[in-house]
Amino acid sequence: MSFDRLAPHYRWIEALFARERLQRCRVALLDAIPPPERVLIYGEGNGRFLAELLRRFPAARVTVVEESGVMIDLARSRLRRAGLEAAKVEFVQADALSWEPAASAFDLIVTCFFLDCFRGDQLRFLIPRIASAGEGGARWVVSDFQIAASGLRRARSRFVVGILYLFFRMMTRLSGRELVDPAPLLQAHGFTCERCVEMDHGMLYSAVWRRADTASQARRIT
Ligand SMILES: C[S@@+](CC[C@H](N)C(=O)[O-])C[C@H]1O[C@@H](n2cnc3c(N)ncnc32)[C@H](O)[C@@H]1O
Repeated sequence: MSFDRLAPHYRWIEALFARERLQRCRVALLDAIPPPERVLIYGEGNGRFLAELLRRFPAARVTVVEESGVMIDLARSRLRRAGLEAAKVEFVQADALSWEPAASAFDLIVTCFFLDCFRGDQLRFLIPRIASAGEGGARWVVSDFQIAASGLRRARSRFVVGILYLFFRMMTRLSGRELVDPAPLLQAHGFTCERCVEMDHGMLYSAVWRRADTASQARRIT
């Protein structure tokens, strides 16, 4: 899978088909989290989320794990254009399935429209690996597509998501073929959903998950 070919066109395709809806979804819950110190972002793409994160939290130190070199170049030039080149951002060009994050090193993890790139068996491998990077009390912002609960909204989201998978499989050789709900895996690895908002007739959601803070629980008990 590679987004290199699609990367130069990603922004205008998003503007044409989704206008600002995806960006609103990415940042929907940024106001609901405390200022993070160390942030780990997977599959950032061309840097729209990253720039907004740094505007709101200029002191954050950010590690971006992104497979596409073209996406990384686009994200870097977006930061330059936004006057954010001095921000503390490390770009790691790597496949998330093989890159191992430092354990318990981050207080915020972010995956925007990233988990939908993977098959269920890959997520069963990847989610525990990503989860291990979160310290006790860490938050994980997941923004992504979902199939709406019922009725016409459900039919609409199935149709749109089906078309998107066809398109992305053609352009990027995406591994995923259908949406897999990451929630059970996040729960199984110690995260609880603090807040979730739905948008675009239930087809988009953003959720803040929080890892149990076992150290402070232990301090309270002793
Ligand atoms: C659908 S795009 C989403 C980009 C951006 N986060 C957004 O909100 O639009 C998926 C991104 O994840 C990256 N990606 C896909 N598979 C990856 C992998 N195995 N390891 C690291 N990055 C990956 C792609 O290069 C691309 O930038």
